[in-house]
Amino acid sequence: MHRLPPGPRLPGLAQTLWFTFDQLGFWAFCRRRYGRTFTTRLAGFPPIVVTSDGDAIRRLFTGDALLRRHGNDFLKPIFGERSLFFLEPAEHVARRRIELGPFHGAAVRAYTERIAELAEAEVATWMPGEVVASHPRARSLTLKVILELVLGVRDAALAGEITSIRIRDDPTLNERSDVLSLLVRAQDEHGAKLSDADLRDDLVTLVVAGHEPTATALAWACDLLARNPDVSARIRESVASGDREYLKAAVKEVLRARPPLPASASRHALEPFPIGDWIVEPDALIFVDAIGMHSNSEVHAEPEAFRPERFLDDPPDSYAHIPFGGGAHRCLGAALATLELEVFLEALVSRVEVAPAGPPVRPSRRGPTVGPGRDGRVRVARVARLPTARRTAERQAAAVGGLRSTDVERSAASR
Ligand code: HEM
Repeated sequence: MHRLPPGPRLPGLAQTLWFTFDQLGFWAFCRRRYGRTFTTRLAGFPPIVVTSDGDAIRRLFTGDALLRRHGNDFLKPIFGERSLFFLEPAEHVARRRIELGPFHGAAVRAYTERIAELAEAEVATWMPGEVVASHPRARSLTLKVILELVLGVRDAALAGEITSIRIRDDPTLNERSDVLSLLVRAQDEHGAKLSDADLRDDLVTLVVAGHEPTATALAWACDLLARNPDVSARIRESVASGDREYLKAAVKEVLRARPPLPASASRHALEPFPIGDWIVEPDALIFVDAIGMHSNSEVHAEPEAFRPERFLDDPPDSYAHIPFGGGAHRCLGAALATLELEVFLEALVSRVEVAPAGPPVRPSRRGPTVGPGRDGRVRVARVARLPTARRTAERQAAAVGGLRSTDVERSAASR
């Protein structure tokens, strides 16, 4: 058995430059030359074993959480040492338990109405004939959502002040339901509370990790819909009829075809970890190659095609669709991000048609995320103004004349 899988013999500096300026091209080259698992050398990193081997990914995500350490040390300068990203396995499991509540599917669905309001307000500014830079527009939308959810305030300037003064002495602390107040109240079994450093680093993590990848996915969605008008039309038909299954499948397909984080998990296995013919030792980093997995034609037929139907006909198993990583570090915001994407796509197709603003764009890197180049520009082709399911529910409520707003909310939330 060899210790490390083969990989390019280029000097580390050359590999680092290739990775930095064209990560997808670099990995595609390595896959073609070395197969599903290969080793790369990047300056400042231990050897990185990149894999899209289905069996290895499943074992990496399902093994004992205490034997899988995160491989995110390189992000410490951005998020701070005490961020959820960097906790050692036992402490990480305990912190996740505290933070999971507000990001759970049912808790997140309570935000549907507010996210729809924000998404519809954004799309209402997209005028026919205009070219819209979807990525920055999406970024401002997802930032608003995460600031409200995490800090419990609607005003971005106020949110900035709150993060700087802290809120331990707020007399209404126990009545608040935002994530910040929850973290301030949380204590472990010995009554110990999170320190200021814990709080600060976690808030930065939630706000940064919570908006950029989602904005990237929204921008990719705009690009894909602009180039696939048939899919756009089908989503429009499905939401107008009140059936959201195709919309949900379309969101999964966006995340399959264009995962915002191509390295969708990074780990040190704390025991020798077999992949194919190799044994990877704990000092090497393992990167999960989401694009390699999502473009494997043995798992996803015709992977180049943008075809949401694949998630309705014969859905792939959960280790073959990994935009949110997996295991103990799986994305905390997966349910929220999925909801944001569904609600935004619904608002988009219900109000406008988008068309390409130019030839196919090259992917562009921003930190660990890879989004559409040229800021995800799309042309607003026509304003469709079909009713969204939410507005349909409101109109139906008005028509029967006596429904209270809670009934409308319930009907929208049950979509
Ligand atoms: C489409 C949007 C998003 C994508 C594609 C995405 C993807 C990911 C990925 C690939 C990871 C690493 C998973 C792993 O190591 O196994 C991750 C971690 C994380 N994400 Fe997301 N994410 C998105 C949106 C969000 C949102 C909205 C939040 C807001 C709470 C969020 C918060 C986090 C946090 C806190 C972690 C670290 C979890 C941990 O280490 O325990 N993400 N995300």
